[in-house]
Amino acid sequence: MCGIFAISGERETAGNIVLKGLKKLEYRGYDSWGIAIRDAGKISIEKQIGKISGVKKDFGKSTESMGHTRWATHGGVTNENAHPHKFGKITLVHNGIFENFLEVKKEIGAEKFKSETDTEVIAALLDELLETGLEPDEAIREAAKKIVGRFAILVMVEGIPGLFAARRGSPLILGRGKTETFIASDIPAFLEYTNTVNYLDDNEMVYISGGTAIFSNLKTGDPITKRDITVNWKIEEAEKGEFEHFMIKEIFDQKDTIARAINHDDELLKKAVKLLQESNGAYFIACGTAHKVTSAAEYFFAEISGRKINVVPAGEMPSFEKFVNEETALIAISQSGETADVLEILERGKKVGAKILAITNVETSSVARIADVHLPIQAGVEKAVASTKAATAQMALCFLLAYADAENIRPGSINRGREILRSTASSINDLLNPRYAEYVEAIAEKIVDRRNMFIIGRGALYPMALESAIKIQEVSYIHAQGFAAGELKHGPIALIEKRVPCLVLGDDSETISNAMELKARGARIIGIAPTRADVFDEWLRVPDCNGAQAIASIIPVQLLAYHLAILKGLDPDMPRNLAKSVTVK
Ligand code: F6R
Repeated sequence: MCGIFAISGERETAGNIVLKGLKKLEYRGYDSWGIAIRDAGKISIEKQIGKISGVKKDFGKSTESMGHTRWATHGGVTNENAHPHKFGKITLVHNGIFENFLEVKKEIGAEKFKSETDTEVIAALLDELLETGLEPDEAIREAAKKIVGRFAILVMVEGIPGLFAARRGSPLILGRGKTETFIASDIPAFLEYTNTVNYLDDNEMVYISGGTAIFSNLKTGDPITKRDITVNWKIEEAEKGEFEHFMIKEIFDQKDTIARAINHDDELLKKAVKLLQESNGAYFIACGTAHKVTSAAEYFFAEISGRKINVVPAGEMPSFEKFVNEETALIAISQSGETADVLEILERGKKVGAKILAITNVETSSVARIADVHLPIQAGVEKAVASTKAATAQMALCFLLAYADAENIRPGSINRGREILRSTASSINDLLNPRYAEYVEAIAEKIVDRRNMFIIGRGALYPMALESAIKIQEVSYIHAQGFAAGELKHGPIALIEKRVPCLVLGDDSETISNAMELKARGARIIGIAPTRADVFDEWLRVPDCNGAQAIASIIPVQLLAYHLAILKGLDPDMPRNLAKSVTVK
């Protein structure tokens, strides 16, 4: 949420490098953008509303630059509210939320501000602290004491070369070159220049100038030594390649990602389930699509290993935290590993001694790093805002974990789980071909003019009905709602009108009966199932996956959502009002 990127170095085109890098971070926010450059000591700022992707501009000569793509929180989408913000000697970009900014704004004098943002208040606060004679690093430390909330900030100070950065809660990663240093919210921004990185942890700050980076503790000012880490990300993975959009590329990536997700040795899986088996009470914690994955995983564990795991959306967990103690297992699932609601629960859980198992796509993310045991899903960079390949990889790994959990009661379970998933992965590989996508597109054409859609499923396909609704809503803006198949007749069936498209996940007899109830009221039934039932007006075949049906069943819906968006002339990679990696609460 909000992309930030900076370079300090010997290249003379820093502004252009930041422009290029920000385009790669645009998935984090795309309301507006802004870039500051420093040339011969003078700082200048360019900012505009709208997406940065189409911007062609030559920033000319500069050796230092920083920029931002915004996902608006405080204040509307305007040029004034776009970052960077300048106040006195300070120019600043920010990702996060300064919760008590109004208080501080009042203290400084509300009339002195040009924007509605919390960010400008940080700039003003820093400027005020500099005026008292503090050095920039001291001012940042003092300001951090006053700020309640999460932040990642980059700061340029007039008259002082180099850049300062500080982090509490929102990600910042340094890319290390010989004579230059990059700093960004995510690695793709600088991956073409370096794959040597340092992660800034919470309550740390850094001063960068050329190839030098000086790290210190944000609370005490004590120096910190960092280890250089080499990341094995491939540039092509973070690019669209032959595909029109990241979303469709990532849907097709599922040809490989499901098999990769389960490529863990048994020892790591056993370590993960040991954490569960030694617990007294376990909670799945996640948001959005990842939360729907945890709901499917709840069924996997119940059915495969007989374990009941509580499922709570991270934002709702505060009501249940009184049950979290040193015997609790918190299982966090997060593609980005940076979702603020998830992180906060884990941080508080850790303080009371809960054990944390994390399943993420970013091995070095905050969620991965706070965990006692981390299982990476290895899906490769996911850039489209709508999560696709990460969700199916997370499900595959949870399915395997449920089998690993059953190993004590049914020896050989892990192998059995792997077998099922290998066969599922290979059937998905066969399914994902251009002809199938064209067939889905043809169905999308028939329903694109509809304003409402309903989706039903049973068992682990019920959470997939909910996930289907998220996919359709977020990229096509068609109102879609998922229900447990048996729940329809208890109220929602009143919504069914003639020709309303209803996706039916599954072909078991009870679900088919529910589909017939819908059809009797005029609904157009699109079945997503291994076999064709008479009640289906349209049929999207999915393989029979032996208990892992949820994984395969969501794929045609991802394709449908994508084609609905394209037919409506929308950009599926950057849906309105959304952004990837939600680092605010
Ligand atoms: C929807 C989607 C979101 C994310 C949610 C959690 O397609 O991607 O609902 O699933 O914001 O994000 P992560 O998984 O990064 O914690």
